[in-house]
Amino acid sequence: MMLSHRVGRVCHVLVLVLCLSAAEDFDWSANNHDSFYYGTFPNGFSWGAGGSAYQTEGAWDKDGKGLSIWDVFTHKKGKTFLNDTGDSSCDGYYKIKDDILLMKELNLNHYRFSISWPRIMPTADHVNEKGLKYYDVLIDELLENRITPIVTLYHWDLPQVLQEKYGGWQNISMINYFSDFANLCFERYGDRVKYWITFNNPWSVAVEGYETGEHAPGLKLRGTGAYRAAHHIIKAHAKVWHTYDSQWRSKQRGMVGISLYGDWGEPVDITNQKDIEAAERYVQFYIGWFATPIFHGDYPHVMKDFIGRKSTQQGLGTSRLPSFSSQEKSYIKGTCDFLGVGHFTTRYVTQKSFPSNRGNTYFSDRDLAELVDPRWPDPGSEWLYSVPWGFRRMLNFIKTQYGNPMIFITENGVSEKIMCTELCDVWRIQYYKDYINEMLKAIRDGVNVKGYTAWSLLDKFEWDEGYSERFGLYYVDFKNKNKPRYPKASVQFYKRIINSNGFPNQREVENWKSKATETCSTSNQLLAADPLTSHMEMVTEVVVPTVCTLCILISAVFLMILLRKRN
Ligand code: NOJ
Repeated sequence: MMLSHRVGRVCHVLVLVLCLSAAEDFDWSANNHDSFYYGTFPNGFSWGAGGSAYQTEGAWDKDGKGLSIWDVFTHKKGKTFLNDTGDSSCDGYYKIKDDILLMKELNLNHYRFSISWPRIMPTADHVNEKGLKYYDVLIDELLENRITPIVTLYHWDLPQVLQEKYGGWQNISMINYFSDFANLCFERYGDRVKYWITFNNPWSVAVEGYETGEHAPGLKLRGTGAYRAAHHIIKAHAKVWHTYDSQWRSKQRGMVGISLYGDWGEPVDITNQKDIEAAERYVQFYIGWFATPIFHGDYPHVMKDFIGRKSTQQGLGTSRLPSFSSQEKSYIKGTCDFLGVGHFTTRYVTQKSFPSNRGNTYFSDRDLAELVDPRWPDPGSEWLYSVPWGFRRMLNFIKTQYGNPMIFITENGVSEKIMCTELCDVWRIQYYKDYINEMLKAIRDGVNVKGYTAWSLLDKFEWDEGYSERFGLYYVDFKNKNKPRYPKASVQFYKRIINSNGFPNQREVENWKSKATETCSTSNQLLAADPLTSHMEMVTEVVVPTVCTLCILISAVFLMILLRKRN
């Protein structure tokens, strides 16, 4: 063999080795639970909090707003806890200035909110100037206060007309409708908004909206509905990214991403290959369902394999999981300037086969069982166990699978038990402390996290759970018509993390907790006094005027009788 040939072959092998080692594999066996890490975040790390339109704005039928699928869903009986609705919620629509004061109090760098599609396009084909104006004011006020707006286009409130006319996300025509809406937002707000999120948590839209029916529009199209909805959402996302890229990017210089939600799945037995595969399936059916097409052009292999095989066993000619054409694959691949990550909790996962003759659903397609460790704290919602190390695992998984993308944590936080009015939320302090610390460790591992959004700024409407689950840093008294906000102790704690850009040293951080809880019992007294205040308001606003009117009426009648008698 000639020398030049040999050298050529060696180089070829070298390139191959380099390529292989560049495509990193996630290491399932290395789950090290390091102790607390004292240190700071990179300079310029962005700290924020968030909320969404239907969950906080209220004003559901004001100033020309159209109906959304959530207005219609919550107005039906039996869909939400105590039939709660978002009709007035936190009345955020009327409280821009008040809420920005709360953000200032926290020293936030960014605020994440969503635009209500039917508020600005009530019937999806005409524009509502008053609705547009509301977001103009919100964006301007944020910028004046040096808070960066991170704007979500779709946080679940589809215009009802699109549901009625086309069946919502089951229909391909949503892609163009969504693109028109996004274009309107880029045109109107893009001079000031530089971070756009196309969809918030499409997993929920697909699974809870079209598979289990727990969320609007409440459809139970088991085994097919979620896959079809997701397919159209992914294409709609790609179209909007391309529109921004070709029409707006050069003028506006912003970024377009998507916010994906994912719980972490940890193998029950880390040495058992079957458990590892089941855990990986869990994660691929969650975040991978959307992230893999967006970063690599197609659905995860494991989804195609499992759903395809089960469809064949059912006797179907094609898979229940739709497929992308090769043109679509290259159109979708790479449509993400940053990845939004919503994460709250973790499950242990093990292999469990679901025979396809017992009905096929998104859940049974995965062939796995989820477990929790009874020692994990569950301070709030029944599904939300605090497992901080799962956050670091999830972030490292994203790094290895999708080429270390730029990440913004778009949601992370914890709720409290039903009907809790406690402002000294020590469990939330603990949750934030530990989860934020795991994020810091992930950054040390090399994960490219640029910002963190505490979920949420305020207590708000929590979808099918109504007002029974409170995620806020600020407590909202929904019973009082003024919807007053009260800081929980976690406000003081989160603020200290922000001001120090991390966790400086043990002594200081340990001090923060006691400092944070110093004032909360006083505010708790205020809150306790609140029913009395509302009672007093009722007395002055209703009882006093009614009694006065009655007195005047009675005196008039007496006067008339007296006058008659005289005559
Ligand atoms: C994810 C959703 O995007 C958000 O709206 C909700 O408040 C949280 N989950 C908590 O349930």
